[in-house]
Amino acid sequence: MPRIIKKEVSLTQYEADELDEVTQNLIETAKQSALRAYAPYSNFQVGAALLLDNGKIISGSNQENACYPAGLCAERVAFFSAKSQFPDCQILKVAIVAKPASQEQFKMATPCGSCRQVMSEYENNQEQHIKIYLPATDGSVYESDSVDNFLPFKFSNKDLNS
Ligand code: THU
Repeated sequence: MPRIIKKEVSLTQYEADELDEVTQNLIETAKQSALRAYAPYSNFQVGAALLLDNGKIISGSNQENACYPAGLCAERVAFFSAKSQFPDCQILKVAIVAKPASQEQFKMATPCGSCRQVMSEYENNQEQHIKIYLPATDGSVYESDSVDNFLPFKFSNKDLNS
């Protein structure tokens, strides 16, 4: 008999004022970063801001290129920047925001598959889970308590070693 293997994932929806000041500040930093995106081809601005366990906040925005695949998403710009400057740091939280360049309002965008894989690698290597914050258009904020919620049945270095 075939068996169904299930994995449950969940997000928690908060009102913005239910989040602590540090997290609200992280979201604001991600928004400021999105405004510095280099996105002349998609006109879609994305910002990511990471809180490290050393208290530092590292942010990034998407950087596009005339040779399209050479561009990089905001999340990977921020994660690679953080881990290249502070290789021993633990990443506690990441806020991710997005907005079409022609609009004032930010909208919720979940990370792409490649960024999920990159975030997952770093989460696997550290003791604590990385919390992800995604602000929505209605002012609420979705929180994920782990990258795993976005990448169930993930591929990791465990697969390479076994
Ligand atoms: N983008 C990100 O920065 N992060 C994502 O997770 C999804 C997509 C960027 C890549 C490209 O510059 C633009 O958004 C449109 O796909």
